[in-house]
Amino acid sequence: MVTKIEELLEKVRSFTPQAEAEIEEFRIRLLGKKGEITALMDEFRSVAPEMKRELGQRLNTLKTAAMERINELKAARSAARASGGGIDDMTRPGTNDQLGSRHPISLVRNEILAIFARLGYTVADGPEIEDDWHVFSALNFPPDHPARDMQDTFFIEKNPDILLRTHTSSIQVRVMETQKPPIRVVCPGRVFRNEAISSRSHCIFHQVEGLYIDENVSFADLKQSIQFFAKEMFGEGAKIRLRPSFFPFTEPSAEVDVSCNLCNGEGCSVCKGTGWLEIMGCGMVDPNVLEASGIDSDRYTGFAFGMGIERIAMLRFGVRDIRLFFENDVRFLRQFASAL
Ligand code: DAH
Repeated sequence: MVTKIEELLEKVRSFTPQAEAEIEEFRIRLLGKKGEITALMDEFRSVAPEMKRELGQRLNTLKTAAMERINELKAARSAARASGGGIDDMTRPGTNDQLGSRHPISLVRNEILAIFARLGYTVADGPEIEDDWHVFSALNFPPDHPARDMQDTFFIEKNPDILLRTHTSSIQVRVMETQKPPIRVVCPGRVFRNEAISSRSHCIFHQVEGLYIDENVSFADLKQSIQFFAKEMFGEGAKIRLRPSFFPFTEPSAEVDVSCNLCNGEGCSVCKGTGWLEIMGCGMVDPNVLEASGIDSDRYTGFAFGMGIERIAMLRFGVRDIRLFFENDVRFLRQFASAL
């Protein structure tokens, strides 16, 4: 056994691999389950007690020497690789780095911002954790409006109320408070609503808010801008229609539908047979809202609109289930790698 140990020790000391793979092969040959050192360890159990001390020491020296040599060789290889030098094994396959891509929601958000940039809109941002003033009061919500209820809004603190913004309209208030007309901004962001009405609804989603304030801004300007947006986003054939609606912060208000591009307006399951899909709310900014942020409502008028990015993305890409945007399965996400 002593000669065997000496022989292996010599092998360890003189071991100089030509290729990286040899290091691991060497380790397995000596220290693996059926390795030569492992076999010696097994054998050691049955040697005579008076031999144990000496053989044990020799075996330990061998084992430590082997492990140290292997670790040293491996470390030297990875250091050489990290410094870019020492191409050690020309036959080793290259490493294949997977390239990431933008999330479809980011792609569509960027596309929306780019379209409005062509109309002279700049981008404004605001906090996700807001106060009551910017989300509700400054936007003309009466104190008992149902949107303020605990069931609809995630409150962080009460009195004074701190909450997760339920819409990006809060950003338009911040812009009006800090900028003087003419104002032309789009405000993208994440919004939060405490809704679990169906398994499909999600309490976090994304919106883009738009705000345009100047002298003599009219409802015709609003309609024209949205028409432009719809054609840029969905193609020349896209039509829009406006239905009267109500929002506390706009008067008059409307809901905007775009012709369903999944069935070309003929009626399908996504548009529930109507040929139209709702894409946003809009209207002329209520004079109360202008005044609350210190803008002279006798001199200025303006319009605002707000859309859900998920909704636009579903239409744009023909995605029929909103949950896919949150599950983040790479097999889904990969399809948009070069979409826009
Ligand atoms: N804030 C509304 C919502 O979250 C969307 C909206 C409607 C925004 C009309 C507007 C608007 O600016 O004028 O449902």
